[in-house]
Amino acid sequence: MSQVNVGLCGLGTVGTGVVKILQNHADEIKYKVGSELNIKKILVHDLNKARDVAISREWLTTDPDELVNNADIDIIIEVMGGIEDTNLLLEKAIRNKKHIVTANKDLMAVHGQKLLKLAKENQCDILYDASVAGGIPIIRSLTEGLASDKIQKIMGIVNGTTNYILTKMTDEELAFEPVLKEAQELGFAEADPTSDVDGLDAARKMVLLANLAFKMEIGLDDVEVSGIRTISQEDITFATSLGYTIKLIGIASIHNGKVEVSVEPTLLPKEHPLALVKNEFNAVYVYGEAVGETMFYGPGAGSLPTATAVVSDLMDVAKNIRLGITGNEYITPQYEKQLKEDNEKYMQYFLRMEVDDAAGTFQKITNVFTDENVSFAKILQLPSDKEKIAEIVMITHKISKQQLLNSRENLKGLDVVNEIISCYRVDGED
Ligand code: NAP
Ligand code: HSE
Repeated sequence: MSQVNVGLCGLGTVGTGVVKILQNHADEIKYKVGSELNIKKILVHDLNKARDVAISREWLTTDPDELVNNADIDIIIEVMGGIEDTNLLLEKAIRNKKHIVTANKDLMAVHGQKLLKLAKENQCDILYDASVAGGIPIIRSLTEGLASDKIQKIMGIVNGTTNYILTKMTDEELAFEPVLKEAQELGFAEADPTSDVDGLDAARKMVLLANLAFKMEIGLDDVEVSGIRTISQEDITFATSLGYTIKLIGIASIHNGKVEVSVEPTLLPKEHPLALVKNEFNAVYVYGEAVGETMFYGPGAGSLPTATAVVSDLMDVAKNIRLGITGNEYITPQYEKQLKEDNEKYMQYFLRMEVDDAAGTFQKITNVFTDENVSFAKILQLPSDKEKIAEIVMITHKISKQQLLNSRENLKGLDVVNEIISCYRVDGED
């Protein structure tokens, strides 16, 4: 096929980048694919909006059927966002034998498995590398470069907005709200940044990575998620004084066939490679049984970085069309989902408490932990501004989540503990 025709759904941040790359790199793309990639139609909301890219007016439409029912179009690129309506649009496109490239993690985390099966039934490709960590080819690395390995752990900073906020709160001691506003203005926060800040955006990305790594059908409900709203300047100060940096970390790991997926604020030793990832940058650490440790770093969002991943997927689909194949043989999950119980999840924890500054307090607290067989790596006590009150910060050795939950419950029953102010995971020391 000397020419492959594309329908582009969305001409916003990512869509504009896609058009620019197709135009600016046209010669290289044609050389590598062996076909020209032509945009036939672009679906938008507003036909009259000024566009930051050179396009032909007649490409624009507000009618999705002009793309999904268009016999001339081979591949649909979906970069408009949304879940339910977009899912229906893509289902229709696949039934009409269109291949799909999407950057939409929200859609793929919810409907991805069904869409992948539908695509397979219709001998279509559906590729979504841009949906996790923008310009970092992490999905491509799991499905191609590391395909021969057994992945055991993925640990990553996969949300740029929260990493930007935490970097500014740590390095410049800025407050949460103004930094969030800055992230929105810079264009990497979602339109509704709740999903960034509360960890849902990262959780959706971790679902996609975990499914690919462990070949199970893991859903969003299987992910333990907490965001960064609870992190205070005091938490950051305590963490820093103990030699840690706080990051929002997604973890997906497997042990004895059982999986754990979570997104939580996590303290990392300040020299840990993920602790050094600043601002809106993303990074993903992957541990494979054979390869050992690998690390991927780059821009997790933005017009051209994200569009790079979209267009690379587009090129793969175009090559597949030329070869008369699809790349989706291994879509069906290989294993039944098996999740770890709380007594099988092991981690270190940071606990910060407000306690009575009186004789016997420490003994009562340590008794609670001794009863649960919890021991400590670090302990710090500082006077509080309040009279006869102290703040204690403890870092446990590795304990199970169940031991943590039991200890917390029992601490609440102690008259000397006024409040457990914060409790975060600690990782990266083994
Ligand atoms: P955006 O700037 O808001 O652009 C959305 C585009 O889609 C706009 O052109 C809009 O049309 C069009 N659109 C939206 N809903 C539509 C509908 N119902 N019918 C017709 N057109 C519609 O979004 P974006 O930042 O490019 O993100 C697009 C997708 O990529 C999302 O799934 C996002 O999660 C994902 N993503 C984004 C980034 C990033 O850095 N931005 C990174 C990775 C993944 P108008 O222009 O006419 O309003
Ligand atoms: N809102 C997302 C982020 C954009 O901050 O990482 C990329 O998915």
